[in-house]
Amino acid sequence: MSPAASTPDNTPAVDSLLQVRDLHKRFDRQVVLDGVSLHVNRGETLVVLGPSGAGKSVLLKCIVGLLRADAGAITWRRRRIDGLSERELAGVRREVGFLFQLGGLFDSMSVAQNVAFPLREHLGLKLDACMDRVQAVLDLVGMGEFLHAELADLSGGQQRRVALARAIVLEPTALLYDEPTTGLDPVRSDIVAQIIRRLQSELSLTAIVVTHDIALARKVADRMLLLNHGRVHVCDKAQAVLDSPDPIVRQFLEGTAPPLQEHT
Ligand SMILES: Nc1ncnc2c1ncn2[C@@H]1O[C@H](COP(=O)(O)OP(=O)(O)OP(=O)(O)O)[C@@H](O)[C@H]1O
Ligand SMILES: [Mg+2]
Repeated sequence: MSPAASTPDNTPAVDSLLQVRDLHKRFDRQVVLDGVSLHVNRGETLVVLGPSGAGKSVLLKCIVGLLRADAGAITWRRRRIDGLSERELAGVRREVGFLFQLGGLFDSMSVAQNVAFPLREHLGLKLDACMDRVQAVLDLVGMGEFLHAELADLSGGQQRRVALARAIVLEPTALLYDEPTTGLDPVRSDIVAQIIRRLQSELSLTAIVVTHDIALARKVADRMLLLNHGRVHVCDKAQAVLDSPDPIVRQFLEGTAPPLQEHT
């Protein structure tokens, strides 16, 4: 577990890297984020849980500027980043990596081309000049022998690891993971959990992990946040959330739905 696991309470540390304050986002009349606040301290992993449609992906996209929030503040290293231009955001995106739900890889490219892509885009490097770095991050996720493979020849779990390699190739300070284990079986999911833990311990990555996967959450979380109807229902140390008697928390953790109504 990362060093911040010993943070004594749930208040931001002085060197809290990322802060979100009172974020609001709606699409037409649908309110998706209704005043979300959170912080992530340096080196810690915050797991964001919540039912489908709760606004988890929208929250991550607002943080990295892929969507614009309607109101609220996002602070990265004490600097407001909401409202930055695309050009200014490019610098932030080098420091804050994003692993898209379902990976977001390019099917028509090889593994090496996919992982090298951010190096070429952000640093203007030629493919040959990227290869040592590409090999190193593929090794880190246990995919070193697939450097020259075509993406289309890999299984879903292997592709997810390639997506992880691509997300860390620019050596981000923080990484936002959107459902890193979706569609993977329990063994493949455990491999992803192990990689996330390795990135915590070897690279001291600060992370937000959005997931439905409670097994993954248990393995990687320092703190957990439950997003419900666009609001933070609870945010606390992982064990405190896991032990919470709150009925909405229990319902989510235990996967029990309210009884079906006759006419719904
Ligand atoms: N670009 C968009 N335009 C309109 N509505 C959107 C857009 N993006 C998301 N939404 C809506 O916002 C709500 C929250 O979506 P979001 O993708 O954040 O959910 P989620 O919590 O990530 O769900 P899941 O667990 O299924 O991934 C959904 O009702 C979705 O339809
Ligand atoms: Mg989502």
